[in-house]
Amino acid sequence: MKRIGRSLLSGVMFLLLGTGAAAPGPALADGGEGKKIYEAHCLSCHGVRGDGKGPRSRELSPPPPDFSDPAFWENRTDSFLFHVVQNGLGSMPGWSETLSPGSIEDVLSYLRTFRR
Ligand code: HEC
Repeated sequence: MKRIGRSLLSGVMFLLLGTGAAAPGPALADGGEGKKIYEAHCLSCHGVRGDGKGPRSRELSPPPPDFSDPAFWENRTDSFLFHVVQNGLGSMPGWSETLSPGSIEDVLSYLRTFRR
């Protein structure tokens, strides 16, 4: 029993930490690249202001979250967000085949600029 518990735990830890820790490239870019990536791939759903009101957002249930709301950022770790962007969530597709880990870091830096 103990062994199963431990391997389960390390699996979860890998899921939460592994992807984020493995990301190469500049840890915190200024968001210059991130902005371009956001405009090309994310804006249509997440909106110009990151408030979840992009042109395609009305088709989506649940709708995209509001990145300008400080509450959004309070209970989400960097590695969790990295994992979500790589693998997708609900009606959002995963981006691991489109964006390199470094590009995902960049776009996440840009997302943080929406926070009020
Ligand atoms: C097809 C529309 C669509 C596109 C394009 C899209 N998203 Fe999303 N995104 C969503 C929806 C819908 C949700 C909410 C999913 C849910 O809660 O079930 C979401 C949620 C998120 C979340 C929050 C996850 C959480 O913890 O609740 C992040 C971060 C995110 N998207 C980042 C991105 C980034 C970065 C891009 C561009 C690379 C992107 N999204 C492109 C629709 C989209």
